[in-house]
Amino acid sequence: MTGVEASSRPVRENGREFAFTPEDFRTIAAVLHGDAGIYLPESKSTLVYSRLAKRLRLLGISSFKDYCKLIQGSHGVDERQAMLAALTTNVTRFFREPHHFDHLKNTVMPALAARARAGGRVRLWSAACSTGQEPYSMALSVLAALPDALRYDVKILATDIDPNVVAAARTGVYSRDLLEAVPASDRKLLRRAPDAGADMWRFADEVQELIAFRELNLVRSWPMSGKFDVIFCRNVVIYFDDATQEAVWKKFIDVMTPGGRLYIGHSERVTGDGGRLQSDGLTVYKMPGDLR
Ligand SMILES: C[S@@+](CC[C@H](N)C(=O)[O-])C[C@H]1O[C@@H](n2cnc3c(N)ncnc32)[C@H](O)[C@@H]1O
Repeated sequence: MTGVEASSRPVRENGREFAFTPEDFRTIAAVLHGDAGIYLPESKSTLVYSRLAKRLRLLGISSFKDYCKLIQGSHGVDERQAMLAALTTNVTRFFREPHHFDHLKNTVMPALAARARAGGRVRLWSAACSTGQEPYSMALSVLAALPDALRYDVKILATDIDPNVVAAARTGVYSRDLLEAVPASDRKLLRRAPDAGADMWRFADEVQELIAFRELNLVRSWPMSGKFDVIFCRNVVIYFDDATQEAVWKKFIDVMTPGGRLYIGHSERVTGDGGRLQSDGLTVYKMPGDLR
């Protein structure tokens, strides 16, 4: 029996299982924008339909009109979270854009390692960490420059809006194929994780303990009070509208130390107040001043 025969729901004239009007699209886009700052152009309408049709099926809802009522109502909080997860991409990988990690290890970490050894505080932030590959790559770069980092006041904060990816990142368990990009010299920091399945691996405690994983929405207020020497915010603001992007860049600048670095995705650029930052042309931005 094929999937089509198996479905008891009538297929509409336009080949769609559920009625989906431009107004439904606009409601969904407005809710997503209000919750996460993400801008959905009309051209994403087909994608929205196909990603959310699965949610409607799962919930036993028969139209997008009813789905819109659910996400706008007081009982819709959990579904809005599920909608956000369905509509955003969590694509990431270890040492994505490897020059960022070389830069962190070779250009930034020597000054930060010296500060840490002198008793100072060092803070790094992966601001849209997805399933954790980015903060673990940062931790490996920190440990390459400062192998005993755990003895000092060095911490990496790793945050994402999606609680599911934060939970996955916190376990730090990955299959061998995902770990292919981890340099051979860092593989000594991997341990087998037989409880998670055959050929599954996790990072050693000294890597895990450097990182604190939290849920955080970049377009809401941030609870942290201290400043950051290094921020990775890559491949997330690209989904925000221009005004939201500018507001986020401004908030980063407000929490960066003199000489601190902001690493962004290769298709992103810092706008607005970000003009205060110096770019080295490698999608690495520097706060005026020096790391001390
Ligand atoms: C494509 S992944 C990028 C992961 C990683 N930074 C990288 O470059 O490999 C985008 C992540 O941004 C998160 N995200 C989307 N909107 C967000 C928001 N408003 N606040 C925080 N994270 C958000 C998504 O949940 C997703 O995990």
